[in-house]
Amino acid sequence: MESKKISTIAVLTSGGDAPAMNAATRAVVRTALARGLKVKGIKRGYSGLLKEEIIDMDSKSVSNTISHGGTILYTARCEEFKKPEVQQEAAEICRKHGIDGLVVIGGDGSFRGAGKLAALGVNTVALPGTIDLDIACTEYTIGFDTAVNTAMEAIDKIKDTSMSHERCSVIEVMGRDAGYIALWCGIATGAENILIPERFDGNLPNTESAVIENILRSRAKGKNHHIIVNAEGVGHSYGMAKRIEAATGIETRATILGHMQRGGNPTAKDRVYASMMGAYAVDLLIKGGTNRVVGYKHGEYVDFDIEEALAMTKDIDDYQLEIAEILGKTMGTNA
Ligand code: ADP
Ligand code: F6P
Repeated sequence: MESKKISTIAVLTSGGDAPAMNAATRAVVRTALARGLKVKGIKRGYSGLLKEEIIDMDSKSVSNTISHGGTILYTARCEEFKKPEVQQEAAEICRKHGIDGLVVIGGDGSFRGAGKLAALGVNTVALPGTIDLDIACTEYTIGFDTAVNTAMEAIDKIKDTSMSHERCSVIEVMGRDAGYIALWCGIATGAENILIPERFDGNLPNTESAVIENILRSRAKGKNHHIIVNAEGVGHSYGMAKRIEAATGIETRATILGHMQRGGNPTAKDRVYASMMGAYAVDLLIKGGTNRVVGYKHGEYVDFDIEEALAMTKDIDDYQLEIAEILGKTMGTNA
């Protein structure tokens, strides 16, 4: 790590919003101020950086934000930021505004942008802000816990109706190409089937046949309702519900939970982890860190080189999946 004294840092949120991005922003601002630095907020991610939507931030700018979802800095996707000449322009804007440390809160797309700025001399640290938990270098991402709790509560409610009407319910949760939200919600709500992209071979008829078989088997054992948590990476929930109904004769409804999973007041876990990560990012910049991603592994906050972090892979834990299947199975009658 190169060591260069910094005096002004900036923070931006980029890509999809996630609950507790505000907690992270607040921690960046207040830790930086406590360390004697000046702080700037960049609105609307890389897009706002290019338009110089840069504001001064003080302790009050982040008052009463820790409990709120969304991002007070707004967020955006900015396709043109993938162009080298645009990245160069952004690095010059950072220099023009005296920004010598930048915290980027977002997903792996945003990390790529952060890496480019670091290569152009802007000391940059990225924080994993995404509900999807699809960042390989970390066991925790900002917003995942809240999203899972939101989806779990929604599924619990749908389950009440499913039980009353003795129906099947297919509930689609977010996660992009990852099945973490589905797996966690599935375990937390006792779902009979959990469909995740990591274990989906693209053969929808086969997958649906297995679900239908499971429904018929557990009906025969006396179970009168069925919850199928389907990750958006598998998708086709409405068609799936129709085909399940046709094959089983059991009324089946599909619900796509959608963006409600991205909003809402963050859980205590998200507020605390996001706060710690925000503070960690500032202290890392002060120590001369650049081109780093902050993660959480084996009970500790850690950091990795951005390119190394982007090259890492992770997969759903097979044991967790096996236990989810065991726990969702109807063993006896009236389960
Ligand atoms: P997320 O950060 O949630 O993964 P995106 O993949 O949409 O979301 O990326 C957010 C933004 O990061 C993009 O709109 C773009 O501005 C920037 N970005 C993504 N990929 C790159 C890249 N290869 N080079 C530079 N910037 C990128
Ligand atoms: O990455 C977060 C996420 O909510 C994914 O789960 C989902 O696939 C995607 O963003 C939706 O993006 P948008 O807000 O652009 O519809």
